[in-house]
Amino acid sequence: MTDYHTHILPGIDDGCQTVEESVAVLNMLKEQGVTRVYATSHYYSGQNSPETFLRRRESAWQKLKPYLTPDMPEVLLGAEIEYFDGMSRIKGVYDLALEGTRILLIEMPEERWSYRTVSEILEINGNSGYTVMIAHVDRYALFQKKNTLKALVSEGVIMQGSADFFALPPTRKKALKMLRKNEIHVLGTDAHDPVSRPPRMKQAAEVIEKRFGEGVLADLIV
Ligand SMILES: [Fe+2]
Repeated sequence: MTDYHTHILPGIDDGCQTVEESVAVLNMLKEQGVTRVYATSHYYSGQNSPETFLRRRESAWQKLKPYLTPDMPEVLLGAEIEYFDGMSRIKGVYDLALEGTRILLIEMPEERWSYRTVSEILEINGNSGYTVMIAHVDRYALFQKKNTLKALVSEGVIMQGSADFFALPPTRKKALKMLRKNEIHVLGTDAHDPVSRPPRMKQAAEVIEKRFGEGVLADLIV
């Protein structure tokens, strides 16, 4: 099982602040059956250039690396890139793709997306083999026009759903409906720390398997 969205690198964003917290979250993910995890620290264009972010991320990664053990999930680097107008034309943005892929995890505005916003996403998605993965799509689905998600999916945009959306009872039904409608393709825990925002991948997987059987949420092959 792959976790496509976490904030496990220490001290780089509002996620884990210490190596101890990072290790605790990785061990929780291991116990939940996760074998591969992307460390997708927040990228805000107003705070850092992509180059500065990559330097900061590397230094956080070097802090964590000595504490990783072979039984832990494999950690790959990435970024949760906050949407901004014109981002499709910024070269450095593409350097923030998930490690080993041409996939950009993008955090969208929590409002009804304008034509311009949707076009910008499609611009990135069509650029030299890059693919957009929308972060926690469940957060924005309600605000969108009926066909917006469908249109993005038909262009190959990948939708990342929150594990909590499935794991927690109040939203479970809605989550399963989005999955059935092909509006969610991969899962991310968005884990920030072991206590206040812990990973709930196992619970999410159980809910999905109970409803649809095994193998519905197969790992994305990259
Ligand atoms: Fe996040």
